Amino acid sequence: MNINGTSTRTIRPLPDNYGVEIIDQTLLPHRLEFRTLRSLEDAAEAISVMRVRGAPLIGATAAYGVALALSEDSSEGRLELACERLMATRPTAVNLRWALERMQNRLTPLPAAQRCEVAWSEAAAVCDEDVMLNQSIGRHGAGLIKQVYEKTSRTVNVMTHCNAGWLATVDWGTALAPVYTAFDAGIPVHVWVSETRPRNQGAALTAWELAQHGVPHTVIADNAAGHIMQHGLVDLVIVGADRAAANGDIANKIGTYLKALAARDNGVPFYAAVPGPTIDWRLNDGSGIPIEERAADEVTHIQGQMENGSVTSVRLTPSQSDAANPAFDVTPARLVTGIITERGVCPATREGLSRLYPEAGTSSRRTA
Ligand code: MRU
Repeated sequence: MNINGTSTRTIRPLPDNYGVEIIDQTLLPHRLEFRTLRSLEDAAEAISVMRVRGAPLIGATAAYGVALALSEDSSEGRLELACERLMATRPTAVNLRWALERMQNRLTPLPAAQRCEVAWSEAAAVCDEDVMLNQSIGRHGAGLIKQVYEKTSRTVNVMTHCNAGWLATVDWGTALAPVYTAFDAGIPVHVWVSETRPRNQGAALTAWELAQHGVPHTVIADNAAGHIMQHGLVDLVIVGADRAAANGDIANKIGTYLKALAARDNGVPFYAAVPGPTIDWRLNDGSGIPIEERAADEVTHIQGQMENGSVTSVRLTPSQSDAANPAFDVTPARLVTGIITERGVCPATREGLSRLYPEAGTSSRRTA
């Protein structure tokens, strides 16, 4: 998508594979800085501290992390060590495991000396495929937006949560791909962007990328979402996912569940945009999804820009107060109107997903 009118991906290898360039998302929207990852440790750190974040981009960065690890040292045992290190960075987005298993399956049969070169091309393939999946999600999801427009002949109001836009993927995004596709096709669309405390991915990242693309949007406090739905100002909610269980339960950024409850109470359709690599066929339901608990200082402090332009963090809470910081929640499938995948829109049920992914089969499933 565009930064200052120039088409840009969130991650790309540098010439001769001497590094991987990312956007440091911890600095947005105040500063746009690119950063070069040169080692396994750089990649693991970037995922852990959320310089890169969003399930598909975590997977893509991990794939390049393996390539970087093998560029440093491609001796026997290095592949396994790299995968172990990267797997320990963040627990909830299943795209991380998916990407690392894909790299291991591709590289393990090869002699150690050949692995490095193949790792770079496999990581590039992971990225290219991510873009294609998201474009398809965009086409299928835009159909839903178009239906509302054809019925109402007015601007379609979409609510989203967190950032499941192009910054969370290699390009296009998942939940926002339908918005960009509809907008580019000339359908008038407006996005309600919930700020997404504690890290404010909505206020900082979603608002920034929508502004870069020229999509009309309004940032709201998380707590305003129910009120806005109650007043008929939302036509549909579209969120992303960090992991979908085989029955259609959806883990996504903390606060997603509350939006789904409010949507149900107000008759607002609630969709999750989920590419194939985000479905965990090994989990029968969402109860087995590991929920990341992040540092308390993400709740006790808030980051922003000072009058002089510097970016700083200030304390919000009394220094004696404890804080808890679960980073994700699970929305039960019964609250999800439909799942938008690259293969079409399906009911949030085991049957719905299995019809779209017949190859997932029963052999890969196990009880949570
Ligand atoms: O903690 P984050 O910022 O990595 O969480 C991101 C989300 O929850 C996104 O909604 C999800 O990864 C879907 S991204 C296309």
